[in-house]
Amino acid sequence: MAVRIAVLASGGGTNLQALLDALGPDDPAHVTCVVSDRAGAGALRRAEQAGVATVVLRDPADPGETLAAVADAELVVLAGYLRLVPPPVVARFPWRMVNIHPALLPAFGGPGMYGRRVHEAVLASGARISGATVHYADETYDRGPIIAQWPVPVLADDDADSLAERVLAVEHALLPRVVVTLAALGLPDRPLRLAARGDVFQVASGGTPDVKLDRRTTH
Ligand code: GRF
Repeated sequence: MAVRIAVLASGGGTNLQALLDALGPDDPAHVTCVVSDRAGAGALRRAEQAGVATVVLRDPADPGETLAAVADAELVVLAGYLRLVPPPVVARFPWRMVNIHPALLPAFGGPGMYGRRVHEAVLASGARISGATVHYADETYDRGPIIAQWPVPVLADDDADSLAERVLAVEHALLPRVVVTLAALGLPDRPLRLAARGDVFQVASGGTPDVKLDRRTTH
């Protein structure tokens, strides 16, 4: 049985779309529900187009409402979700809730660091490398243990938009790979770290070392 995924999203939902596009019937996970705190979120439209159930939260701070929305899920993916997940929901999904962030955490994360602001901060810092991070989510912003990262060079003529676009393309490649790895390993009940080794992602610590994901086959 494929792992049932609930995706929480506040925005346009291109990371959701990457998951919907990447996860076919032979994959060990599929998206069964999309939850948003915003009735107008593009992510809801993408879910409807894919025939996936949707829920709009009236009060995203209400643990009971969020728990009910994700009750059927085994893995929760925060994909551009701008709210903190209530602690009881975090507790219900130990090592089974992940977030994607458009920078190399722990740098350039935390409260208020989302969207364009992240890339503006990276450029202002003079960093030469940014990237995407998938990490375990908890009741704080961007602080749970890191699962995998994918670096992206910062170019001399980058502005926030060009950097965001390049990082987003990497997010779309990274997130499905992490989700498939976690599902293929049976959602380990301990934190897992993946590392790129040449052209593949491998489990670096916390799991069996023989899962390899082709890093080149981006979509
Ligand atoms: C992405 O950059 C994601 O990392 C961040 O918010 C953005 C959401 O984009 N958390 P989308 O809604 O998936 O298109």
